[in-house]
Amino acid sequence: MKIGVLTGGGDCPGLNAVIRAVTLALQQQGATVWGIERGFRGLLEGGGRELLRPEVSGILAEGGTILGTDNTCDPFADRSADRATQPPRDRSAEALGHARAWGLDALVAIGGDGSMAIAHRFHEAGLPLVGVPKTIDNDLAHTDRTFGFDSAVAVVAEALDRLATTARSHGRVMLCETMGRYAGWIALEGGLAGAADVILLPERPYSVDAVADFCAAREAQGLSTLICIAEGAHAAGQGLAVRAHLPGSPDPLRLGGAAERLQNALQPRLRSEVRSAVLGHTQRGGTPTAFDRVLATRFGVAAAGLVSRGEFGRMVALQGNACGSVALADVAGHNRVVPEGHELLRAAEALGLCLG
Ligand code: F6P
Repeated sequence: MKIGVLTGGGDCPGLNAVIRAVTLALQQQGATVWGIERGFRGLLEGGGRELLRPEVSGILAEGGTILGTDNTCDPFADRSADRATQPPRDRSAEALGHARAWGLDALVAIGGDGSMAIAHRFHEAGLPLVGVPKTIDNDLAHTDRTFGFDSAVAVVAEALDRLATTARSHGRVMLCETMGRYAGWIALEGGLAGAADVILLPERPYSVDAVADFCAAREAQGLSTLICIAEGAHAAGQGLAVRAHLPGSPDPLRLGGAAERLQNALQPRLRSEVRSAVLGHTQRGGTPTAFDRVLATRFGVAAAGLVSRGEFGRMVALQGNACGSVALADVAGHNRVVPEGHELLRAAEALGLCLG
């Protein structure tokens, strides 16, 4: 058997751990593993190489992806000709042609929601496919965890620890902007782990008045305030803070500025100085936590198992603490956001935190 593997979408701590586990587990079963470079762009344009054991040793703890990735390429709606003037083209037949030319029996696609939707379409088009859920946002449907999330939360917690000591020293209100466009899991868990006083999520539009009153009450008690705000959080009636649009990308919005926007709204209402920090890609880079290394390894082994049993059209998933799989059709196009009344929201309320 010859099995392709690719990493699509944004990078994420643990991608290399999955590549290593998939490759070693498949090689144990006598398969050849073909690494496709730069995600679905490599499948479309024909970039790949055989993954041999030396290339996948020593990469378990390495951030990024040895295969490269791309979050702008959808072979079913390709915009690489001229984004501004040309309509998207379905070039999936060319991509399938490369899979045939390489002699691939199946493909393991490691990626987030956009990549899983593309993977599902390739599976329906006749390429036997298994998905592995990746994203620091932890927002893929039907899996309780994606690898990369724990590593991102650890970065947020450490950043909040650092911001807290400077906030206390200066008696400031400090905002920390995390990633998370539509799902606030990183801000919620990171905020709780880093003892934030205010946690603002995309799912719950906030009231500037409520946040300002909360900060002012703390100010009156001589307390600084730490605010953990997701990049997708916004005041009621306000849109997302969009920095740029990438037309034609499966992932067209680039967010940024949520913290600065709230900083500007709060400053005139408070005596203390209000400052903000944006964590950005520090949450996606670097080495995975031990939890993510183990989860990524479990996912990689489970994906190899699905391939060897011929169970295609499925995505590996963690449900409870069991590693199983779900139909790609059930994942594609669905996001898992923080539901109203979630236990962590209730915990935050029980501690007297402000949720906007
Ligand atoms: O989906 C993962 C994610 O990190 C989001 O939280 C964030 O909005 C986006 O990727 C950023 O993508 P890029 O690196 O392409 O700007």
